[in-house]
Amino acid sequence: MSRVYVFDHPLIQHKLTYIRDKNTSTKEFRELVDEVATLMAFEITRDLPLKEIEIETPITKAKTKVLAGKNIALVPILRAGIGMVDGVLKLIPTAKVGHIGLYRDPETLKPVEYYVKLPQDVEEREFIVVDPMLATGGSAIEAINALKKRGAKNIKFMCLIAAPEGVEALQKAHPDVDVFIAALDEKLNEHGYIVPGLGDAGDRLFGTK
Ligand code: PRP
Ligand code: URA
Repeated sequence: MSRVYVFDHPLIQHKLTYIRDKNTSTKEFRELVDEVATLMAFEITRDLPLKEIEIETPITKAKTKVLAGKNIALVPILRAGIGMVDGVLKLIPTAKVGHIGLYRDPETLKPVEYYVKLPQDVEEREFIVVDPMLATGGSAIEAINALKKRGAKNIKFMCLIAAPEGVEALQKAHPDVDVFIAALDEKLNEHGYIVPGLGDAGDRLFGTK
C-alpha cells in the first residue's frame, strides 16, 4: 500500500488558511498556491538519492554530494495543476514539465481526458503529478493511468487539499504511488466538492466562474 504524507508544517498550514478564505483575491490566491507548492517540494524531495563527487573549494579538495539518479518530470493536471508548477520549479529548476488535460464532467463527476504531452524517456523519469485538489480521486487516478499507459514507473502525487474518499480511491487504484497532501479535509459534499476545502481551485486561480 502506498504511503500518505500530510504536511503539518506551520508555514504550510498558515498559508493554506488564506488559500481557503473566500475573501482572498485571485492574485493572492495564486501567490499563496505558488508558495505552498515550493514548501511542499522541499518535503517531497527529501528522499532523492545523492552521489558523491570531488570538487575543489578555495581551501582544498573535498568530496561532497550532488543529486543522482532519475531525472524528474513534473506533471500538472490541467488546468488547476498549473498553479503549482512554478513553485516546484523554484526548487527543481531542471525538471521537465509534462501536461495532462482532464476536466470533471459536472454531471457524472468523471474525468474526461483532452490533452497529454510528456517529456521523453518516460520510463527513466521520476514523475511528480500535481493538482491542488484530490476530491473523488477520479482525475488523479486517470492522470496516473495515462502516465502508466505510456511507461511511467515511478510516480508521486502531490496536492493541497484531499478528501478521505479521494485518498482511499487513489490508494486502491495505484497502491505504488505515494501521496503528499497539505491538508486532509473532512468529506465531499453532494456536488463532489471538498468540505471545508477552498471551492473550485481552477476558478480561484484563474479568476473564472
Ligand atoms: C478539479 C481539480 C482536480 C479535480 C479533482 O479540476 O483541479 O483536477 O477537480 O476532482 P476529482 O478528484 O473528483 O477528480 P476540474 O475538473 O474542476 O478542472 P479545472 O482544473 O480545469 O478547473
Ligand atoms: N475540484 C475543485 O476544484 N474543488 C473541489 O472541492 C473538488 C474538486
